[in-house]
Amino acid sequence: MKYQLTLNGKPTEVEAPGDISLLSLLRDHLGLTGTKEGCSIGECGACSVLLDHKLVNSCMVLAAQANGREVITIEGICPSDGSPNDLQDAFIRYGAVQCGFCTPGMVLAGEALLAADPQPTRSQIREAIAGNLCRCTGYQQIVDAIEQTAQSRRERRGHA
Ligand code: FES
Ligand code: FES
Repeated sequence: MKYQLTLNGKPTEVEAPGDISLLSLLRDHLGLTGTKEGCSIGECGACSVLLDHKLVNSCMVLAAQANGREVITIEGICPSDGSPNDLQDAFIRYGAVQCGFCTPGMVLAGEALLAADPQPTRSQIREAIAGNLCRCTGYQQIVDAIEQTAQSRRERRGHA
């Protein structure tokens, strides 16, 4: 089957089997291995991507369901020089990354939250990342990184 989607802002076409998951399309057919495969049953959030700006577990979405739509992966959120964006940078500074396996999904969950709500409370941040499991960090540093990024983005926009 021929898939056509807007992937990280670019019109993209790829031939792949019609019965695969969006996760497989991204990793196995498009080479975007930043999206991680954890449980494969919709429980860990490691495979999170944005589909039409909504956070989804790409292991639970058929690639065919993404046809014609917009997909953003972790590779699509950093500046064109490949440096970390401000949220990724905050994850590094706050020690919110240890093994890093959950990190792409966590960062995308954070981006989805901040796009919807520029001033989330800590409990709203916890709720937004509830579908993303982390075995390493204890979550505190992840919440700190998202909270700090929300604040610095608001300051940059001129309303702290
Ligand atoms: S790999 Fe998709 S939710 Fe775990
Ligand atoms: S940093 Fe290891 S699972 Fe989150």
